[in-house]
Parts: sequence; structure tokens; C-alpha cells
Amino acid sequence: MRFLCVVVIAMVMLGGLPFSSEAQLDPFFYRHSCPHVHRVVFKVVEKVSKRDHRMPASLIRLFFHDCFVQGCDASVLLNNTATIVSEQQALPNNNSLRGLDVVNDIKTAVEKVCPKVVSCADILTLAAEVSSVLAGGPFLKFPLGRRDSLTANRTLANQNLPSPFSTLTQLKDAFAVQGLDTTDLVALSGAHTFGRAHCFFILGRLYNFSGTGRPDPTLDTTYLQELRRICPQGGPNNLVNFDPTTPDILDKNYYSNLQVKKGLLQSDQLLFSTPGADTISIVNRFSSSQNAFFNSFATSMIKMGNIGVLTGKKGEIRNQCNFINAKSVELDMGSVTSESEEGLVGSI
Ligand code: HEM
Ligand SMILES: *[C@@H]1O[C@H](CO)[C@@H](O)[C@H](O)[C@H]1NC(C)=O
Ligand SMILES: *[C@@H]1O[C@H](CO)[C@@H](O)[C@H](O)[C@H]1NC(C)=O
Ligand SMILES: *[C@@H]1O[C@H](CO)[C@@H](O)[C@H](O)[C@H]1NC(C)=O
Ligand SMILES: *[C@@H]1O[C@H](CO)[C@@H](O)[C@H](O)[C@H]1NC(C)=O
Repeated sequence: MRFLCVVVIAMVMLGGLPFSSEAQLDPFFYRHSCPHVHRVVFKVVEKVSKRDHRMPASLIRLFFHDCFVQGCDASVLLNNTATIVSEQQALPNNNSLRGLDVVNDIKTAVEKVCPKVVSCADILTLAAEVSSVLAGGPFLKFPLGRRDSLTANRTLANQNLPSPFSTLTQLKDAFAVQGLDTTDLVALSGAHTFGRAHCFFILGRLYNFSGTGRPDPTLDTTYLQELRRICPQGGPNNLVNFDPTTPDILDKNYYSNLQVKKGLLQSDQLLFSTPGADTISIVNRFSSSQNAFFNSFATSMIKMGNIGVLTGKKGEIRNQCNFINAKSVELDMGSVTSESEEGLVGSI
């Protein structure tokens, strides 16, 4: 009995290697294998964001759309192939995902300094981390060590990613499925304080809300006129800023906008306008303190970043983020040489 205790304690202290079944994420995961990965990611995103002020928002959304489907495993990055049905054409993604090329630029830069070590899932995570800082948001210290999936799932993307036409109950359910609570829902929705949305998602609110023939009554009338100007009925599918005052800054404006009926999507406004909802007091709290918002946003982002991660020997480190690695098949003539393996990857 005592011996068993010692063995168990030793196993706990050795913490990991052959004994533990689950490897853990770790903020210092790349300290030896790629100590400058953070800086490399920062430089690429900083450079792109100088000419495209919307990019930090787009990258944070890309990270969210990865994490809600099979976990944060870079499944969203996989392109269509003979074996992969890409998530990029799922309804919530099709024609609205941005930043895929930036992720590839980051991967190229990272491979130059530490080849075959950093996963695309962690690159997406670090891209979200630096995007927050570049947009004036909080510093997020994500634990790392995620590995990349061998699969994607478009059906699951259609099922798990919340719709802007959801009810509050549906939003809560979509987050609960991911292990996220009501505070997480309100804090993460704060990401709608920057970036853009297409007119398509708000036309109903502007012209014919729920078949009433009238606009959404929870929409401020001055804001309604402004939105109708940008999104004329039968007009082009233009882009609208989520935040009319600081469109590219990650700040608490989202919540003060909700308080004055200037939430852009139905799924935004209902956090404040649903009678008796428990989300109202959270909106008020974040609206009155940027610190409170930033602290919760950081906590909830890290919680989201832990969803369904692959660690240890699960998954792989992709060579190219849009494709799973070519398998080094054991051929009849023996094992494939590294040269022919590279040829295989290159030919895909
Ligand atoms: C609560 C449920 C959510 C719904 C229904 C929702 C829905 C949407 C929709 C419809 C758009 C506009 C897409 C377009 O027109 O191209 C959008 C954009 C965006 N979403 Fe969400 N979203 C939700 C939660 C989140 C979360 C949790 C995050 C991140 C933490 C996020 C970050 C963003 C950002 C930053 C944009 C702007 C992207 C850009 O400008 O490229 N959203 N969202
Ligand atoms: C992946 O697919 C997208 C379109 O969905 C395309 O723009 C991109 O070039 C593809 N990436 C690669 C590396 O083939
Ligand atoms: C995605 O969008 C393209 C271009 O608008 C469209 O042709 C295609 O049918 C859409 N795919 C799906 C799966 O909805
Ligand atoms: C995708 O997810 C759906 C819904 O959870 C599941 O039924 C299906 O088996 C998954 N498909 C693949 C290819 O993993
Ligand atoms: C509003 O939508 C409803 C239901 O889709 C439709 O029957 C009605 O004709 C529309 N009203 C207007 C004014 O467009």
C-alpha cells in the first residue's frame, strides 16, 4: 500500500511523460523549440494590420470559428481535397472568413526560424493573442502546445457556429455545448466591438423584422437611418462597422452601444434588450468598466482556446496549414526516404 502511494506520488511529480495520458497546454511550450515564435507572429500581423486595419478583428473571428468546431485544432484552415470537406464553405464561413492568407504568411515566417515545430492551431491562437494587443485590447497569455487535426467537419461548423438570428436561449445553448457559460457569452460577444458585418445579416432588422413589415423596435431610430443608408433595400451587400465610433479598436464600446440600442446584430442587441435576462447586468458591468471587460474577455478567450485541443501525440504538426501532411506510406520497396517524402508533400 505504502509502495503504491510512493509510485503514485512519483508519477504525479514526474508529471507527464510516459505516465500521464493527457499532455497539458503550457504558456512556455515553445521556450526551447521556438523561443521567438511570439515575436515572429507579432511582426507579421503588425505589418499586415498597418495596411488592413480590420485584420485583427478578422483573425480573432477565425480563431473563434476554429475553436467552436472540433476544438481549437486548425480544422477551419483545411481546404477541400479528396478526403476533406472544408469548413470554409459552411454557411457561417462562406464568403466571410478573412485572414487565411495571413495565417499562411505567419506559418511561412515561423517555419523559417523553427521548422516543423509550431502547429497551425497554435499559430491561430497566437494570431488572436497579438491581434488583441494590436487593436488596443487586453494582453492574453494563452497556453500552447495544440496540435493540428487530421479532419474537418462542415456539418459541425453549420451546427455549432451561432447564427445572428438566434434567440438568447439558442446563443446560451451554443456556448454551453462548448463548456462556456453566460458570462463567457457576454464577454466574448464583446469582440463585436471591432470589425465589420455584411448588410445581409441586418436587412431584416432594418426593413421587415420577423415579418412585421416594420424595423426591429430595439433599434435606435437615428442608428436605423444610418444603417439604412449603408444598407439600402435591394442594394449591394455592403460592409457595416460593428462599432460606429471606434470601428477598429477592441474597447468596451460594444456594451455602451447595446445600452443605447445600437447593437448591430439581433444576437448582439438581445443581450441587453431581452426583458429580465441575466445578461443585462453583465452588459452594464462591462459598460461601466473597461477593466472588468478586459479581465473577463481574457479569461473567456483562454477558456475558449482550451476547447477540444489535441495534445501530446494526437493529431500532427502540419507542414502547410491548408492540408494535412502526406502520409509516409510504407511502400513495398521499404520505407520512404525523407527526400521522396518531401516530393510527396510538394506534389500536393
Ligand atoms: C455570440 C454569437 C455570435 C454570432 C451570432 C456572431 C455572428 C457574426 C456575424 C454574422 C458576423 C459578420 C460576418 C460577415 O458579415 O462577414 C460576425 C463578425 C465578427 N465576429 Fe462574431 N458572432 C458571434 C460571436 C463571436 C465571438 C465569440 C467572437 C470572438 C471572440 C466573434 C468575433 C467576430 C469578429 C471580430 C467579427 C468581425 C470580423 C471581420 O471584420 O472580419 N464573434 N460575427
Ligand atoms: C484554399 O482554398 C481557398 C479557397 O477556399 C483558396 O483561395 C486558397 O488558395 C487555397 N489554398 C491553397 C494553399 O491551395
Ligand atoms: C459558397 O459561396 C459561393 C460563392 O458565393 C457559392 O457559389 C457556393 O455555392 C457557396 N457554397 C456553399 C456550400 O454554400
Ligand atoms: C461531423 O460531425 C457530425 C455532427 O456531430 C457527426 O455526426 C459526423 O460524424 C462528423 N463527421 C465527420 C466526417 O467527422
Ligand atoms: C415582411 O415579411 C413577411 C414574411 O416574410 C412578408 O409576408 C411580408 O410581405 C413582408 N412585408 C414587407 C413590407 O415587405
